Amino acid sequence: MTKYYNFKTEINKRELQEAATFLKEGKLVIFPTETVYGIGANAFNPKAVDDIFIAKGRANDNPLIVHIADFDDLKEITEEPNEMEQALIDAFMPGPFTLILKKKNCIPDNVSAGLDTVGIRMPEDKIAHELIKAAKLPIAAPSANLSSRPSGTKVSDIVDEFDGKVSAIIDGGETKIGIESTVVKVIDGIPTILRPGKITPEDIKEVVGTVKIDEHIFKKATGKVESPGMKYKHYAPNAACLLVYSDNEEVQIDLVNQNMKDNTIVIGFKEHQSKIQCDQFYVHGSIHNYDEISHNIFTLLREVDRMHPDFIIIEGVKKEGLGIAIMNRLIRSTSYHYIEK
Ligand code: TXA
Ligand code: MG
Repeated sequence: MTKYYNFKTEINKRELQEAATFLKEGKLVIFPTETVYGIGANAFNPKAVDDIFIAKGRANDNPLIVHIADFDDLKEITEEPNEMEQALIDAFMPGPFTLILKKKNCIPDNVSAGLDTVGIRMPEDKIAHELIKAAKLPIAAPSANLSSRPSGTKVSDIVDEFDGKVSAIIDGGETKIGIESTVVKVIDGIPTILRPGKITPEDIKEVVGTVKIDEHIFKKATGKVESPGMKYKHYAPNAACLLVYSDNEEVQIDLVNQNMKDNTIVIGFKEHQSKIQCDQFYVHGSIHNYDEISHNIFTLLREVDRMHPDFIIIEGVKKEGLGIAIMNRLIRSTSYHYIEK
């Protein structure tokens, strides 16, 4: 049976302790972070970690991120960061940022999927922070969604996927950012973004002077990749989807109208609603507010899917700043069906 805790307005200390005890006992707990919900287990317990892979239906060659509450935890589980890694830690932790570091042996192989590295994240969300502190353990936690589905940004979206499979679900309301953390690995002295997020390439460049974006961010990964997650279908609704983008707004609107079919839902900018002829239009946000779009996009993909359209057309954004992360998720959610003009 799954216990539900409502921490939307405040954290209930007794229930927080109960959730922490579940984690200590090797059970699974779903909790909010500032990015998306996570499905967590004691990172030192390989059996509990296995249960995460089973609950999500996740491929076991796709490693998990380990969540910590403070910097002492970091020393326990990873080799000492080099100067550049330390600068990134100082700048972006706690926050929506994951750094890949050399792992120590106390992190079981199934957490890192056999790699000698592990992704470390220190959430700034209060509930996540308090839970990890109360458990006194590093918590392995991928996003709380069945494998290939959009990540969970509110509890009502993921209840059906996990009810009965986890010991507790903590409801902290809608997650603030709405897309997962920026994943970075320093490779040959250059911080390389393996998954874009709220911490942008510009943010990283400002701190350490250089940055690289992995070539697979916008294209299908074949062969060897730096981050196993790049290979898998992700964020996808059940209906066929098309993503369109143009720097020219009128061209973008034309692209939507030209590709319209029967029973199509459009997900687009509020400024375009009156210019697009379709049965159902869902607003992902304003052209001028990429934070709003990032916050809404996963829950919208799920909502639209529940309407069982035959086709979904999504308006894309400019690939700069947070727009890089939004387009990475949208390109993948549409299974690379993407037109740019
Ligand atoms: O915001 C987030 O990062 C959320 C919340 C819950 O913290 N977590 C999350 O975890 O998105 P997950 O497992 O859904 O995505 C982790 C990504 C995957 O693409 C995985 O392949 C990559 O990080 N990753 C994990 N460990 C890695 C490693 N050692 N080397 C390269 N990539 C790694
Ligand atoms: Mg995920």
